[in-house]
Amino acid sequence: MDKITIIGGNELHGKITISGAKNSALKLQAASLLTSQPMVLTNMPELADTRFMVELLEQLGVTVYWPKGSGRMQTHVAEIRSTIAPYDLVRKMRATFNVLGPLLAREGHATVSLPGGCAIGARPVDLHLKAFEAMGADIVIEGGYVKAAALRGLRGAHIVFPFVSVGATEHAMLAATLAQGETILENAAREPEIVDVANCLIAMGAKIEGAGTSTIHIQGVTSLNGTTYNVIPDRIEAGTFACCVAATGGEVLLDKMIPDSINALLGVLRQAGVGVERGDNWVKISRDKNVALKAVDIDTQPHPGFPTDLQAQFMGLMTTAEGTSIFRENIFENRFMHAPELRRLGADIIVRGNEAVVRGVKALKGAQVMATDLRASVSLVIAGLMAEGETTIGRVYHLDRGFENLEAKLTNCGANISRSAGD
Ligand code: UD1
Repeated sequence: MDKITIIGGNELHGKITISGAKNSALKLQAASLLTSQPMVLTNMPELADTRFMVELLEQLGVTVYWPKGSGRMQTHVAEIRSTIAPYDLVRKMRATFNVLGPLLAREGHATVSLPGGCAIGARPVDLHLKAFEAMGADIVIEGGYVKAAALRGLRGAHIVFPFVSVGATEHAMLAATLAQGETILENAAREPEIVDVANCLIAMGAKIEGAGTSTIHIQGVTSLNGTTYNVIPDRIEAGTFACCVAATGGEVLLDKMIPDSINALLGVLRQAGVGVERGDNWVKISRDKNVALKAVDIDTQPHPGFPTDLQAQFMGLMTTAEGTSIFRENIFENRFMHAPELRRLGADIIVRGNEAVVRGVKALKGAQVMATDLRASVSLVIAGLMAEGETTIGRVYHLDRGFENLEAKLTNCGANISRSAGD
């Protein structure tokens, strides 16, 4: 297993171009199942997760052409060959479950393995399934598989989500594009990725209004066409690099991104004393590392609140801030696995339920640590970049799920970070 070695202490200077958004790309890949015409997705991030989704699409009969380094993925599925998504291809990544809705909408039936457990919490799919039932699907769970059928097609429905779910909102929206009549989604998630998926579906001929607000109206159509669509920039990647620069000091321009998509983070970075300048599609982060950051409290919330996917990174940053910061994790019940690893570097963190209390220390010291999930692993990179001495991070396959060319992007800005084959 590969490991990453970081010699901390270098400031970061330069420019980083932000890649396409993983969490949007995966759902757009699932959307390609909704049309029998060719689709082209550009700005596709080359990640373990997006490659993994390709494997599943191919199993279902999709022809995928994605030359390495092109960022351009062509898909075509004139006829769906299989409506079964097997356990082996679904268990590794939860977003693969999102092929259920498109298969059900296009073919009238689908059998998809339940996604496996996940380190950050139970993450059930009950809201997804309730939405499909409301749209007229019969659903049975048998042997770890969801068997869904709507042999006369899905019908539009009025669905009120009991709480906000990104996955369930997107999944219901995908399926509703081909349902008969109107679907209304209330208490819908408002993440930028939802708007991106809606915009792609609209370009494919879907009738969707209100994406990005809490109420989405979808008027079903009989078929969708292919299109060429550019994936939005990854706000979590942008926010992660913003935390890296805030941690090390220096000045870096984050280019080809959407500044508004990380407003919540930029606000707290400013409160902590980090310099933030912004333009149409860039943000410049600067910090004098001789001036300590101020501790700031964090409460994760659905968009436009502070994203749970940046909580670990911001905690890495706060480990050396002046004062005490309190982190409240409101989205996932078990998302502080980075805390014990950060403690190995000398951080002072106490976790009580969904709350973590971080008392800033003068400095971190390099140590051997282990990545536990995608966002947790990158918080260890942030901590390693500011720690004194050498940090090695094991199980870096977690990082490869969601960060494109992470080491190269940081090395270009002056970081001392390298990868080697581990034991
Ligand atoms: C997506 C993102 C993930 C991000 C999360 C919250 C992708 C691939 N992943 O995950 O990076 O951290 O949004 O912004 O886009 N829940 C249920 N029942 C359901 C669905 C969800 O109880 O049927 C719960 C979850 O366990 C969690 C909460 O609802 O506690 C929010 O989850 P959700 O917004 O659905 O997250 P994901 O779509 O899985």
